[in-house]
Amino acid sequence: MSAYADFQNEVYLKGLFGEQPTQPFGWRETEAAAYAAMTPGAVGYVAGGAGGEDTMAANRAAFDRWRLVPRMLRGIPSKRTHTTTVLGTTMPAPVMLAPVGVCSIVHPDAERAVARAAAAMGLTMVVSTASSTTMEDVAAEAPDASRWYQLYWPADQDLAASFVHRAEAAGYGALVVTLDTWQLGWRPRDLTTAYLPFLQAEGVANYFSDPAFMKGLPEGDQGAAVLKFVGLFNNPTLTWDDLAWLQTQTSLPIVLKGIQHPDDVRRAADAGVQAVICSNHGGRQVDGAIGSLDALPGVVEAAGDMPVLFDSGIRTGADACKALALGAAAVLLGRPWVHGLAVGGEAGVHHVLRSFLADLDLQAGLSGHASTSELSRESVQRV
Ligand SMILES: Cc1cc2nc3c(=O)[nH]c(=O)nc-3n(C[C@H](O)[C@H](O)[C@H](O)COP(=O)(O)O)c2cc1C
Repeated sequence: MSAYADFQNEVYLKGLFGEQPTQPFGWRETEAAAYAAMTPGAVGYVAGGAGGEDTMAANRAAFDRWRLVPRMLRGIPSKRTHTTTVLGTTMPAPVMLAPVGVCSIVHPDAERAVARAAAAMGLTMVVSTASSTTMEDVAAEAPDASRWYQLYWPADQDLAASFVHRAEAAGYGALVVTLDTWQLGWRPRDLTTAYLPFLQAEGVANYFSDPAFMKGLPEGDQGAAVLKFVGLFNNPTLTWDDLAWLQTQTSLPIVLKGIQHPDDVRRAADAGVQAVICSNHGGRQVDGAIGSLDALPGVVEAAGDMPVLFDSGIRTGADACKALALGAAAVLLGRPWVHGLAVGGEAGVHHVLRSFLADLDLQAGLSGHASTSELSRESVQRV
């Protein structure tokens, strides 16, 4: 059995024989390399947040207020295992790929490359409704891999039902319903470049391949299809009561993404969903909001036995350790894998994932945990 941490030995040994890494290891350097490789419009779309981007800053700042407290002489095995199971999906480590739409603006191989890289590491990819590749094609790229489907609940129940049924038929293991994006946030970077990829028919593959969506549209009229997409993407009328309908449409576990308030967790539990993701969409929706990690302890407490997953601001193994210590069942990596995709396609995502898992493995071990499952409130201190 090889351990994630062995990756660093491999790198150093290769260096001894004159082989230098082609991709950076630090997340900031990878981010910089990614933005150097992308078009200005794509950089704005990926890097940008809502308003003054204060929520994005708060997401990172929240991690600074929690610190790991390393423990010694605990006989930690050199090869640690981090396997966990969330909603019936077994994972080699409590790490997933967050849903990110429109990957074609980052790299031509888009979600196919991401699916292969995730599968190679055994990690579960959450595939976005706004993917540039249909959910069936992403599934076919890594048929044996586990995958979850993220639903943007459209303002057309037939289409919503169709998305859900297609995801179930294509072998997706859970339905992640994103609640925070019933309308796009005010995003100055995208406004400045006047760039919204969907209007250029990017990130609409699931819509344009759907019989419920295409019904009544003149064949081959992309403009009409884009206009229809614009008309039904926004769905501000949804309420907690609508979840009952969704539950009649699927036997998949339902996960609510975008939860930040303990009362919303209680409502989620009352509605009978299976899990929540404590997330603020990477600060892309509501500006001036609390950092997602600041919301996590209250969300976990209100959730009781219901699993809470976490994203928004995770960049390093230490970040993941802190979120896991505060009660997250797993963390979702967002922008970092997108940066890897921009830098090197499939190999770039693979490098980011492998590096992240090595960092996480070392962080957990060196701070005195034989497995990430041992991380607890005792492992961290608020400063
Ligand atoms: C470019 C981009 C596109 C995204 N697209 C989606 C999406 O289609 N569906 C979704 O639920 N979340 C989407 N998200 C939000 C991510 O799932 C995740 O919540 C966020 O990236 C976490 O913040 P972080 O990347 O700063 O850690 C997107 C985020 C980015 C950066």
